[in-house]
Amino acid sequence: MKQLSMHGHKSSVFDEGNGPPLLFVHGFPLDHTMWRDQLAEFAGAYRVIAPDLRGFGSSEVGDQAVTMEQFADDLAAILDALGVTEPVTLIGLSMGGYVAWQFLRNYRERLRALVLCDTRAAADSPEVAENRLKVAETVLADGTEALARAMVPKLFAQQTIRTRPAVVDAVRNVILQANPRGVAAAQRAMAARFDATGILKAIDVPTLMIVGEDDVISPPDEMRQIAEAIPGSRLVVIPDAGHMSPLENPAAFNSALSEFLTTVERR
Ligand code: MLT
Repeated sequence: MKQLSMHGHKSSVFDEGNGPPLLFVHGFPLDHTMWRDQLAEFAGAYRVIAPDLRGFGSSEVGDQAVTMEQFADDLAAILDALGVTEPVTLIGLSMGGYVAWQFLRNYRERLRALVLCDTRAAADSPEVAENRLKVAETVLADGTEALARAMVPKLFAQQTIRTRPAVVDAVRNVILQANPRGVAAAQRAMAARFDATGILKAIDVPTLMIVGEDDVISPPDEMRQIAEAIPGSRLVVIPDAGHMSPLENPAAFNSALSEFLTTVERR
């Protein structure tokens, strides 16, 4: 991991390989390790960059309120600090997808292509947003144990929970070790995020959508609607996977990503 200091804020980022840059943005409340199977696979032909977002993994949360704009600004600052000037393919999962919509809005010129995984375009309903603020308070008061208990069964397909306990345990441990301040800040940021459904039809970068067939957080039908709204986009449904499709079925996920990247490079 590289340790970067940007305007006094310390950030941690995985950066390996040479070639066209791929920027992997993790989901909530995780860190770059959720991309381990993609980082290992794609570092052979690409430069793979996977930060811990502000407040997660080894990246500091900072003092000010976190917003999606701040996450997107952090990504741009990380690319600057790493000397990456050519446009990147941004691969974001769930909250990483919310950050991707924001990055597209503010840094379109830095994007070569987009891969949206297990994510949503709509903003939260008032009830969901309110619940996030409650979860933020609970996590600050009591830590992340209850959050881990509530989230883990929803993150994975039943089959993964039955047959791949090591994968499930690794994710549970990341949640248990997450910084409560970072988790609370990200919940508040997600509650306040913009509704990206209005920008879908104007997206003019190559875009791929990927979703686990058993994803209950961002179900395939909702992802299909997003794909249908984005010109030229397509949806790949990953079998034997839930919300954590890159970890649950890395072979199918990597094959979909690889095929898409080849078409992007041919353009
Ligand atoms: C994630 O996986 O990043 C979360 O499920 C996103 C969310 O809470 O909306």
